[in-house]
Amino acid sequence: MSMQKTITVASLAILWTGAAQGLAGQNVPALKDVFKDTFLIGGALNRPLVTGKDPNAAAIAAKHFNTATPENDLKWQLVHPQPNQYNWEPGDGFVAFCEKNKLFAVGHCLVWHAQTPRWVFQDEAGNTLTRDALLVRMKDHIMTVAGHYRGRIKGWDVVNEALNDSGALRDDARGPWFRIIGQGDPNKKYDHIENAFRWAHEADPEAELYYNDYNLEVSKAKCDAAVALVKYLKSKGLRIDGVGIQLHGGLTYPSVQGLEYALTNLAATGVKVMITELDIRTQNRAPRGADVSQVNRQSTSDANAATAETQKRLADKYVEIFSVLLQHKKDISRVTFWGVCDKTSWIGGSPLLFDQNYEPKEAFFAVVKAAQQ
Ligand code: G3I
Repeated sequence: MSMQKTITVASLAILWTGAAQGLAGQNVPALKDVFKDTFLIGGALNRPLVTGKDPNAAAIAAKHFNTATPENDLKWQLVHPQPNQYNWEPGDGFVAFCEKNKLFAVGHCLVWHAQTPRWVFQDEAGNTLTRDALLVRMKDHIMTVAGHYRGRIKGWDVVNEALNDSGALRDDARGPWFRIIGQGDPNKKYDHIENAFRWAHEADPEAELYYNDYNLEVSKAKCDAAVALVKYLKSKGLRIDGVGIQLHGGLTYPSVQGLEYALTNLAATGVKVMITELDIRTQNRAPRGADVSQVNRQSTSDANAATAETQKRLADKYVEIFSVLLQHKKDISRVTFWGVCDKTSWIGGSPLLFDQNYEPKEAFFAVVKAAQQ
């Protein structure tokens, strides 16, 4: 073989490898086609995906999804890091990606205890803000952020995780909104939530507005509290379009009964139900729930994640969950995965339908089959 031929063959091999990587999963059906008659299907997008630094993840989102949520970039800390400073570029990039790829853009989130700077709850001297001053600050943030994306972000997680698993309003160190605005007077207990929904509607009258929380499919008390909250907001004449069940699950939970209970009872209030942050952690002894502070290096390094047995259990759990969702499809408007592929998942392990190499997994094919049956 001449030198020239050797180089050509080598180049072809390199090209082929590159093409194969770039085409990962290209011959499988698109999830948005598989679920086109049931619900929107999507994922949380991180900044590298949106800015072109992770083109393989972007290709998955463009092919498979018809809705998306920014994983972090519209949280208070990132979009409004200082009192008079808004950082629009990352959020604008997310919205532009959604518009380019025809994805229903969900905003996440306007009022939350986490990823919210400390200054939000303090005056200039560092003392806890008064109730009235915090309400002014909340209004200003919501009007500015939801106003900036008016007409482009189609639905907002207005309030995120305001309830404890017991069903009580969050009133601990992680509940500054309730502690400062609502606590102490039963007539004001929902004021932090009620006003957030009022101002979100004022900022963008066309946008859908959601309450979003985790463990609604695990704790009946928490689900009942969310139902009571929706009824309360409706009784006040406020707009609320849906409740998001985050559904950060595991190989052994949630139970079918727990998920059925949440879907049935939330839908009975007349709002849409959405699965907003779906993933299934593969670690056996990892903490449950959605608290990132409990995800330490031990819980994310998961030696079992790649075994055939774990992948089979993961596929089975996904099929079980999707079977319930399909049975309740008339009440469910959207299912969003919390991430795109295992490589960049917040929880580590093997929690999603695409693997570390952007390839569809056994769980992907099992979910497609369940939907097609
Ligand atoms: O961007 C910085 C980087 O510059 C820095 O070097 C690095 C060092 O730790 O941190 C990076 O920021 C991290 C950020 O994710 C982006 O990766 C933060 O530390 C980390 O706390 C943050 O975690 C996010 C978590 O919310 C915060 O509570 C996760 O990505 C995000 O997936 C997770 O999402 C939440 C939902 O919003 C609400 N429901 C629960 C869900 C899972 O916790």
